Amino acid sequence: MTTYKLAFLGFGNVGQALAELLLRKEKELARNYNIKFSVTGIGTGSHGSVVNADGIDLSAALDAMRNGRTSTGLSIHDLGLLAGQPTSSALELIRASQADVLFENTSVNHKTGQPALDYVKTALELGMHVCTANKGPVVHGYAELQTLAKENGVKFLHESTVMDGAPIFSLFREAIPASNLLSFKGVLNSTTNLMLARMEKGDSFDEAVKYCQEVGIAETDPSGDVDGWDAAIKVSALVTVLMGIPLKPQDVDREGIRDISPEMIADALKDGNRYKLTCSAERDGDKVIAKVAPELIPSTSPIYSVEGTSSIVEFKSDVLGDLSVVEKDPGPDTTAYGLLADFVNAVR
Ligand SMILES: NC(=O)c1ccc[n+]([C@@H]2O[C@H](COP(=O)([O-])OP(=O)(O)OC[C@H]3O[C@@H](n4cnc5c(N)ncnc54)[C@H](OP(=O)(O)O)[C@@H]3O)[C@@H](O)[C@H]2O)c1
Repeated sequence: MTTYKLAFLGFGNVGQALAELLLRKEKELARNYNIKFSVTGIGTGSHGSVVNADGIDLSAALDAMRNGRTSTGLSIHDLGLLAGQPTSSALELIRASQADVLFENTSVNHKTGQPALDYVKTALELGMHVCTANKGPVVHGYAELQTLAKENGVKFLHESTVMDGAPIFSLFREAIPASNLLSFKGVLNSTTNLMLARMEKGDSFDEAVKYCQEVGIAETDPSGDVDGWDAAIKVSALVTVLMGIPLKPQDVDREGIRDISPEMIADALKDGNRYKLTCSAERDGDKVIAKVAPELIPSTSPIYSVEGTSSIVEFKSDVLGDLSVVEKDPGPDTTAYGLLADFVNAVR
């Protein structure tokens, strides 16, 4: 049995879902994988940070966050809920945690990947495995981070960055070696997929945005979704990792759904089609043609029936022809599973 020290950087929806999942799977991990764990650091942006070499009580940390007792901006430590030392910065937390594994789940920065990119680099340099759901470091530092991981004998894994916990990166890494990805196409942004479905039922664009905000899947500023940035960064991550061609979100040919009117949607439905915000990429020699755009999808396509917050990606490779992965109704829980799978795969 080996006990791994874990640090959480980012303890929002995903970090907390992961904490819950680890607690739920604790006995199974020990029994089936000889893995035990002790959480030695938890860091947030404005909710405080704590390190404790003897292990933080994860249930108490969840309780503190969920009951809002740390929402004053005081640290978890200041409130006396958890034993341990507060830290003043994310980098200090990473160093002081002396963790074996860092779970990096801070907010994404589409343009530069920072500051998460520096957090991941620091952890790898310190010999920690890093598991992240944050797309920023993947698209803005993939090659450098993989080199750093190799030099330090650790893993940089990022299964949850695209399609939550669905096994996309591990599929190509483990299950289908020596394959070449030629192209892919899919629906990878759940907010716009739900918005378009609402507009099919008669909502205006603004009403559809408001609905998605009310159910908690769209931000106050919805531009990251409706202008196609979230979809573009996912295309970048897939192209960068699976095709081996570095691609920034800024370099994806990108069009959002603002120009799709309820009339266009109604006309499409009359003809038996639906609008979907599709993500696609096709290898062209050493280059790639990558695109995010609204597209009319006929009812004969598997993409047509991907409802609400579900997603799909259809891969075309030189060995398996067409292979699709469909994910139904994902959420922080499934994202958390991708991180847990990364953790097990990193250490076993
Ligand atoms: N939600 C999902 O299902 C999902 C799916 C796939 C990928 N992801 C990715 O997973 C990551 C986390 O998502 P989430 O839904 O958990 O977001 P969230 O609820 O907003 O949580 C973000 C966490 O990161 C902390 N944070 C932000 N900036 C930080 C900084 N500079 N230094 C230290 N901590 C910082 C926040 O602290 P404060 O709250 O105190 O500011 C919070 O604890 C994002 O990169 C997201 O794109 C999420």
